[in-house]
Amino acid sequence: MVAAKIAPSMLSSDFSNLASEAERMIRCGADWLHMDIMDYCTFIFIFCRHFVPNLTIGAPVIESLRKHTKAYLDCHLMVTNPMDYVEPFGKAGASGFTFHVEASKDNWQELVQRIKLKGMRPGVALKPGTPIEDVYPLVDGENPVEMVLVMTVEPGFGGQKFMPEMMEKVRALREKYPSLDIEVDGGLGPSTIGVAASAGANCIVAGSSVFGASEPAQVISLMRKSVEE
Ligand code: DX5
Ligand code: ZN
Repeated sequence: MVAAKIAPSMLSSDFSNLASEAERMIRCGADWLHMDIMDYCTFIFIFCRHFVPNLTIGAPVIESLRKHTKAYLDCHLMVTNPMDYVEPFGKAGASGFTFHVEASKDNWQELVQRIKLKGMRPGVALKPGTPIEDVYPLVDGENPVEMVLVMTVEPGFGGQKFMPEMMEKVRALREKYPSLDIEVDGGLGPSTIGVAASAGANCIVAGSSVFGASEPAQVISLMRKSVEE
């Protein structure tokens, strides 16, 4: 069995107290801290060159947070040009660098190489509309990614509804790659962890269900148990 990694999404934290929120999550049993990096789209989404219609944090925030924690910073880059972010995120102290396959069709080989050179762990993410076959070359290649993140909501915002139909992708991945880290992101919590874990996901991102809970430690521990069962 692949080890469980529970990764609260800091997108749901109080950004004005990021260091103490991070510390609180680690105290509650989190393995990783999931950091959502998004570029911004103005109003005509279809014509704009940005990846999602939201703007969050960049490398300077990772750098500041790194001074306060040794935790694994699981950075999820929902950006149009991930290559531009490798150097600054490496310098800032990111641990994992997960880019989107939709944003790296032509240059993923070089991207993975550079991520590793900067001492980060490469991962690839895919949006709900992207077929799972699109990531196979990145896992099968000579210089493979070490994690696949299956989006279970449309990227952009926390607090959306989990898409159970994405579990087909997780099942296909787990069957093909028994020891791969498979991360699910979007709408995960006590009511959806069961299907995700039984499909084969072992890295669980959860924002609103953890930060909105009166006892985040209990939610984290319940999710861990589901993965380990
Ligand atoms: C969405 C982000 C997620 C999000 C998850 O684009 O990638 O990490 O914060 O939040 P919840 O768990 O609230 O769906
Ligand atoms: Zn994310």
